[in-house]
Amino acid sequence: MHFDSNLNLISEKSISIIGYGNQGRAQALNLRDNGLNVIIGNIRDEYWERAERDGFKVYPIGDAVKLSEVTLMLIPDEVAPQVFKEEVEGNLRHGHVLCFASGYNVAFGYIKPPTYVDVVLVAPRMIGEGVRSLFLEGKGFPVLIGVHQDYSGRALDHALAIAKGIGSLNPGGVAIESSFWEEAVTDLFGEQVVGGGMLHLIRAAFEVMIEFGINPMVAILELYASGELIELAKAIYKYGLWDQLNLHSSTSQYGQQTRGPKIISEVVKATLRSVMEDIVSGKFAEEWMLEQRTAKKNFEKIWRENLSHEIVKVEKELYKLLRRLIQ
Ligand code: NAI
Repeated sequence: MHFDSNLNLISEKSISIIGYGNQGRAQALNLRDNGLNVIIGNIRDEYWERAERDGFKVYPIGDAVKLSEVTLMLIPDEVAPQVFKEEVEGNLRHGHVLCFASGYNVAFGYIKPPTYVDVVLVAPRMIGEGVRSLFLEGKGFPVLIGVHQDYSGRALDHALAIAKGIGSLNPGGVAIESSFWEEAVTDLFGEQVVGGGMLHLIRAAFEVMIEFGINPMVAILELYASGELIELAKAIYKYGLWDQLNLHSSTSQYGQQTRGPKIISEVVKATLRSVMEDIVSGKFAEEWMLEQRTAKKNFEKIWRENLSHEIVKVEKELYKLLRRLIQ
């Protein structure tokens, strides 16, 4: 674990940020506020204009890479392999530092950088908005760092310097040594299991409540719309997974600890293992790549099916009554 590093390694270098979206904007602003020399590489879209409004010099991607010695790839993982092949690879110089915020494409072989560059990972465990707002409060955030290729012999120091530059090592932050593979696998597993599992658990719970005659709006309020889930997530973040239970009544503590294991049985655990196996074997990445090659037909069908579920209809009515933002 690293709590500090030295900016000197990158302070004289030109840094190109490729992409000015969630992470790109936050990291570019933080690096600039830390006195570093930042330019933006982008396609001609609204993000280009935003970067210019923020006072950056913006170039076509290939030109930005050519004009820099350090490049942070901050565009969506789905488009990165093609952009890398067409615009980035040919403009990298010997000793260039190529940095990713996600291990995915390098870990699963969709991006194969040339041998003459450092390839490092600086992956914030924080959404872009948080990267910027914490920085403005003088605070840091956790990042995973890793080295895929150490051309210069100082690749880890480069990753640490970038981590410091984007503000992650300010008080409260930390850089944890990991790898492209570990970052990609944990990211996918976390989102599929905790994110996907939670969505489907909530929806299954809704269906059972309806079967037992509970008013669908009452069910949705109980399951997530009241905001209790937000408080739960915050309490876990603040006190820890089990210690936060002390904030609940004894009845709730007993119910949670006796019924929870019945839901997450050995059968569910075996399913978790198979989800993990699909990730580590590259099967999930292949499936997703195929989906993109077939214009996301199946993905769109899944979206349509999910949006036609009763819970979405009732939720829209409820959110209208509650005057929440609805599309
Ligand atoms: P984003 O979706 O906000 O990226 C938008 C940017 O990508 C814009 O500058 C846009 O012009 C550019 N872009 C979109 N399509 C393009 C194309 N076809 N060709 C060239 N440029 C294109 O991306 P986000 O969410 O900031 O993710 C960037 C990287 O950071 C990814 O590797 C992601 O996994 C990683 N990451 C993202 C986090 C987040 O908070 N969203 C958290 C941690 C890591």
